[in-house]
Amino acid sequence: MLREWLIHRTTPAPEPIKRLGYLKEQIAIAARHRRLYPAWKTHLERSRRFVLWSAANCPVQNKVVILGSGGLLDVPLGDLADDFAEVVLIDIFHPPAVRAWAAQYPNIYLLEADLTDLVDDLADGKMPSDPPLPDLPEADADLVVSLNLLSQLPLIPARHVPEKQAKAFAAEIQRQHLRALQALPGRVCLITETVREFVEDGDVDETEPVLADIKLPEPDERWIWNLAPAPEVERARDLRLRIAAYSNLFRK
Ligand SMILES: C[S@@+](CC[C@H](N)C(=O)[O-])C[C@H]1O[C@@H](n2cnc3c(N)ncnc32)[C@H](O)[C@@H]1O
Repeated sequence: MLREWLIHRTTPAPEPIKRLGYLKEQIAIAARHRRLYPAWKTHLERSRRFVLWSAANCPVQNKVVILGSGGLLDVPLGDLADDFAEVVLIDIFHPPAVRAWAAQYPNIYLLEADLTDLVDDLADGKMPSDPPLPDLPEADADLVVSLNLLSQLPLIPARHVPEKQAKAFAAEIQRQHLRALQALPGRVCLITETVREFVEDGDVDETEPVLADIKLPEPDERWIWNLAPAPEVERARDLRLRIAAYSNLFRK
């Protein structure tokens, strides 16, 4: 905890990114990864492999964009930089270590952008009644990868609406992300969690949908992410996520 607090204090980041909690969430993911690396290994390897497979199937390889690149845990960075003329990493914030890593490659570019188009309003204490259709940057890519991001997009904005509206608001942010992806000219690879499962003694005893009533097609691949083996979140139950992966979601 002290380590995370210190990292938060000393990381140079825009004031709203700190105040709204985006940096805290990123630091928490990195800390949980340090603690739970063996449990996360398969998920991270499968994500990286799936992104590479999607990239290899992409008929044109000029430009690839990764949405939600974060700490690059699930990004096969070197391989993408070898395969594509241009690699663009987009996140609301790029940690200093990611900046240093990306700087080793002449064809990797970093962009800090809000992929919901809500954060400026949130920072000003305003909240629009409906989540807007976001204007996704770098839209001319041959391949855009939405990488373990869809469930994260509503996390912070939904804290700023009345509790009764939070679920519907969160689902609309996710729908708008999918609509914005569908409008892109190139291929879209999507990796997302779909269901949270609580597991006790090897049996699933509670499930929570992550994408409300959004219906996605049959995925190309699915796997389980052992996000928080007991006692990380609950003393006796493991929390794990069902992951669905699409290499060309809109069949372009
Ligand atoms: C679960 S992480 C994805 C894993 C990440 N690729 C990694 O390896 O650490 C979700 C990422 O989405 C980013 N994110 C959340 N809301 C965002 C927003 N509105 N715009 C852009 N990025 C956002 C977070 O900063 C975080 O890095």
